[in-house]
Order: sequence, then structure tokens, then C-alpha cells
Amino acid sequence: MSVSYLAGYLLCAIIFFILGKYLHRRKVERQAIAGSREIHTQLEKKSLQAQEAGDRILATLGSMAEGVLIVDAQGKMLLLNAALEQALGLKKSLSQNAYFWEIFRDSEVNEMIEACLRERVVVRKEHSVLLSEKTFEIQVSPIVGAANFLGAVAVFHDVTLLKELERVRTEFVANVSHELKTPLTSILGYVETLKEGAIDDKQNRINFLTIIEEHAKKLSELVEDLLLLSSIESGANSLRIQSVDFQGLLDRVMGYLDFKIRDKKIRFEIQITPKPLLIKADTALFERVISNLLDNAIKYSPTGGKVTVRASVNADQAEIEFIDEGAGIAQVELPRIFERFYRVDKSRSRESGGAGLGLSIAKHIVESHQGKIEVESTLQKGSKFRVRLQYNP
Ligand SMILES: Nc1ncnc2c1ncn2[C@@H]1O[C@H](COP(=O)(O)OP(=O)(O)O)[C@@H](O)[C@H]1O
Ligand SMILES: [Mg+2]
Repeated sequence: MSVSYLAGYLLCAIIFFILGKYLHRRKVERQAIAGSREIHTQLEKKSLQAQEAGDRILATLGSMAEGVLIVDAQGKMLLLNAALEQALGLKKSLSQNAYFWEIFRDSEVNEMIEACLRERVVVRKEHSVLLSEKTFEIQVSPIVGAANFLGAVAVFHDVTLLKELERVRTEFVANVSHELKTPLTSILGYVETLKEGAIDDKQNRINFLTIIEEHAKKLSELVEDLLLLSSIESGANSLRIQSVDFQGLLDRVMGYLDFKIRDKKIRFEIQITPKPLLIKADTALFERVISNLLDNAIKYSPTGGKVTVRASVNADQAEIEFIDEGAGIAQVELPRIFERFYRVDKSRSRESGGAGLGLSIAKHIVESHQGKIEVESTLQKGSKFRVRLQYNP
């Protein structure tokens, strides 16, 4: 083998070796670049996923009906959702990068958040926020991460409706007890008097028994009214809707109110068009509506007063009006007269014996028929109660 051949062979070997090395490095580099691209893509994907998850949490918190506030361990606001902003009447610009005590002017809420951040325990309280006239149940809970304390989250749950229902229930029980107590006291008093000797007094014993009877009747009516109200409210009284002639119902009611009509010498004007005017109603229940409204028209009319009953058809509805020229009702009282037990003039009504349930029953019945009841009234001039109900052509 010649020297030149050997040198050529060596040169080739070196070139191949260098080329091999070069190609290997390129391969490693390419792999590294591909690897770093992969890592980059993965990181981008992860960060996108994290952002999406964050956006989802923010959107969820934002659309929650409950108010939510999140602060960090130093009390800096991280999130205040729309519900809370609305409830507290805050401006969004105010809440960015601020500390919670700069935003809340409500010392009780601030104390709760402070206590949670300081003691790292759940703080819960019911609290009325004056600005929104609402009552919230507020719970502030600490947020603890894997290694350290991150801050606190306060959730404001609106319990206004619940409180209102509680108030109505308590008021209702108080009203019922009061209405039951008055006649019961009277009955017990007269029974006692009779037992103590009045039973031998021929003149008075009938009077006393009559008074007892009246009060017992009143009690029985009250209980019946309450049962009726509760059965309409619970929907248990499924309506037996029929097509009935309004004139027939009115005649029947005027029949059993006859003694009151005569007693007060009420003059009636009745205008019904067309005749017969057929309405779609549960006969027994709708009779109660007519009798409650007529009873009031008579009761609150002066002796010899005039009461007009007008019934007509307007579009697809029957429109029935009960008009009196009596005492009338002040504008401020009008929104409340359909409430249970509501009486405008407690003493005047007490004399005439009503418990203040008549209009409330009428309204419940009319509404259970998908109808409407309205009132217009002027003090000393009179009142007009209007009932709209489905008409049966
Ligand atoms: N036609 C009317 N004229 C004047 N006031 C009325 C009339 N109807 C109802 N009111 C007022 O509305 C209140 C509620 O009526 P209602 O529920 O029927 O109770 P009451 O048992 O007192 O009749 C009455 O106490 C009375 O003050
Ligand atoms: Mg009444």
C-alpha cells in the first residue's frame, strides 16, 4: 500500500468521522429544538387551560345570585362580583386594587372580614344592608393553600324574602290569636255571669245567651274564613268551573243579605248587559266574592245609601263593578286593604264586626280564577270595586 493511498484513506476516515460527528450534532440539535418546541407548546397549552379555568371561575362567580368577595391575606380585593356590587351600590372602578376597608362603609361586614383574616376561622352572621334594604346571611371563610394562607372569601346570601315570610307568619299568628281571643273572652264572661246566678234572671238570661250565640257565630265564621283562605292558598280547593248566569248568583247573595239591606234601607241599582251574562266560575267560591264585596258596600254605606252593581262585557272578559256612595278609603290605605286582617279604621270595623279577611278572600278567589280585582275610592264619596273574569260567550 502506497503512502499516498494510506494518506487518502486516513483523510477519508477523518472526513467521515467529522461528518458523522457533525451530522450527529445536527440530529441532537434538531431533537433538542423539537423537544423545546414541544415543551413550549405544552407550556402554552397549560397556560391557556389555566386561563380558561380562571375565566370560567370568574364567569361563574360573576353570574352567581349570591354576592362574592375575595381578598388576599393582606385584605386587598381580588374579586367582587356583580351581585355584591349591586347589593351594596358600589362602583366597579372603586373595587380595583383597593383594600376591602376602603370599599365597604359597613363596619359590621368589615369586622367580619378582619376577624376571618386575623383568626383564620369561618365567621357567619345575619346582617341587614341598609342601602339595599335587604338582609343577607354573610359567611366569611379563610382560604388556605397547600403551604400558606391565601386570604378570605365572603359570600352574601340574600335572605330578605325568607325574613319577610317569617314576619308575615308571626304577624298572622298574632292576628288570629287576637281575633279569637276577643269573642272567647266575652263568651267566658257571660257564661260565668250566668253561672253566678244570672241564669235565674228571666229578663237577662236570654240576652246573655244571645250575646254568647253571636260571639260563637263570629268565631265559627272566622275559623271558616281561615280554612277557606288556607285551602285556596294551598291550591287544595280545585276549582269546579262552570258557565253560570251572573244574575242568578247575585240574586242568591242578595237573598241572604236581605236583612242587612232592609236594615240599612239600601237602594240598589242593578245594570247587567247582555242578559244572560254567563261567566266561567266556581259557583260556591264566586258567590263568596260577590257576598264579601256587597257586604262591604252595604256595611260602609250610610243608612239609605245607594249601591250600584254593574256587569258588562269588555273584549273577552266580564267586568263586574260594585259601587257605593259611602265612607270611601284614603289613597294611602288602598294598597293594603286586600291584606289579611287589614282594616282601615280598626274601631269602626270592629263595631260592624269584620275581621278584615273579606277582601283578602275575594282577591284570592278572583286570582285563582285567573281574574283581577281592583279598587278606586275617594274619601266621603264612595268606592268602586271592579272584578274582571273570563266571560263565556
Ligand atoms: N266599600 C267599602 N267602603 C269603604 N271601606 C271599605 C269598603 N270595603 C272595604 N273597606 C275597607 O277595607 C277594609 C278591609 O275590608 P274587608 O277585608 O272586607 O274587612 P272587614 O271585615 O273589615 O269588612 C275594611 O275594614 C274597610 O276599612
Ligand atoms: Mg268585609
